[in-house]
Amino acid sequence: MPGNTQKSRTSNKAMTLFVCFLAALAGLLFGLDIGVIAGALPFIAKDFNVTAHQQEWIVSSMMFGAAVGAIGSGWMSSRLGRKKSLMAGAILFVIGSLWSAMSPNPEMLIWARVLLGLAVGIASYTAPLYLSEIAPEKIRGSMISLYQLMITIGILGAYLSDTAFSFTGNWRWMLGVITIPALLLLIGVFFLPNSPRWLAAKGNFRDAQRVLDRLRDTSEQAKRELDEIRESLKIKQSGWGLFKENSNFRRAVFLGILLQVMQQFTGMNVIMYYAPKIFEIAGFSNTTEQMWGTVIVGLVNVLATFIAIGLVDRWGRKPTLILGFMVMAAGMGILGTMLHIGIDSQGAQYFAIGMLLMFIVGFAMSAGPLIWVLCSEIQPLKGRDFGITVSTTTNWIANMIVGATFLTMLNTLGNASTFWVYALLNLFFILLTVMLIPETKNISLEHIERNLMKGKKLRDIGSQN
Ligand code: BGC
Repeated sequence: MPGNTQKSRTSNKAMTLFVCFLAALAGLLFGLDIGVIAGALPFIAKDFNVTAHQQEWIVSSMMFGAAVGAIGSGWMSSRLGRKKSLMAGAILFVIGSLWSAMSPNPEMLIWARVLLGLAVGIASYTAPLYLSEIAPEKIRGSMISLYQLMITIGILGAYLSDTAFSFTGNWRWMLGVITIPALLLLIGVFFLPNSPRWLAAKGNFRDAQRVLDRLRDTSEQAKRELDEIRESLKIKQSGWGLFKENSNFRRAVFLGILLQVMQQFTGMNVIMYYAPKIFEIAGFSNTTEQMWGTVIVGLVNVLATFIAIGLVDRWGRKPTLILGFMVMAAGMGILGTMLHIGIDSQGAQYFAIGMLLMFIVGFAMSAGPLIWVLCSEIQPLKGRDFGITVSTTTNWIANMIVGATFLTMLNTLGNASTFWVYALLNLFFILLTVMLIPETKNISLEHIERNLMKGKKLRDIGSQN
């Protein structure tokens, strides 16, 4: 009956939306946990009376956990499934948030953040994977950018809540309040269906069909998709084996590592984690100014992500990345120069903040989402799980190095030189992008794979012929 079909179509859409919303909630939590430490750190430092070195560890212990979580979740999400992995991530989010809010000393806090990191690592690997397996084909491409958007919204949310709690200086509430979205995720995950692709990979085609029937508009669509999944499963994942025997695959893994190292060494997370400190260096001595400045950083990060969403498929990856690195190099370079000369008027202060925001725009419109997009495009099907596990883990290790060295760099190199180092790195990345990064706009993943395996230069694996 047409009425019934209409109703079931609407409820299938609602189900798909619910599923995407929940996986995106994992992105939000990822962002909340990245952002929360910026506002909490100055209060934690005062309360526990910790050294710069200990502060660096409080920040980067989470990234260490996330690197371990990303390695482990490659295995876990294929053995236990995406749904159970997300559930494990959600449980760790809840425990980690509560534990860090109640930590009696810096050591405990560091361990609690390692645990939280495990959750973030699992979420950062599993949620995009689950999203791409469950979203209808039409919207699969925009899902990764959407996920990045959720991360930036999470970071902004954390900055806002930090600001609200900063009036009482209560860092425990800042960290503890994240338990609420973590609990929401945990409850929601129970209602999620298993990924149809994972079910099929386990040989459970009947359940895969049932899930697809609930998610797609028509049963023909569901059947077609199951056939496609069946077809693609003929290619067995054998990442490590392929890595050992095939030098072309090794080049793709290398490219994934390089891309993530470039993303992190832009210096973006220096600002994400230490924004209030940077405002202090730029001459804003009052905490309220520092906190509101940080909120503006978070807001600009969200807004500029929309530029990337609009540009990736029109301009392509390479020009957008090159422009992004130029803007970032200019932002960091000018900021460093101003710190060198001395920021001694209000006008100079605002100009310095303008440069900081310009850097944020440069990152959010380019390397932020694009590196994740590229990493998901360059791996050959047979080695995809392996390749993406390696690049995601690299993201967290590089992230940890940046977080764990910033205050030491400030103390040893001085403020100006620290920002200059990042400016030079961004300049160098322009060169690397021109020489090594492929353009993958409007080209099928199969074509990229064929070019890679034929031995084409990395920068040419996205070419049409
Ligand atoms: C990066 C994170 C960063 C975030 C900022 C992501 O793409 O991987 O390290 O904190 O963007 O928006």
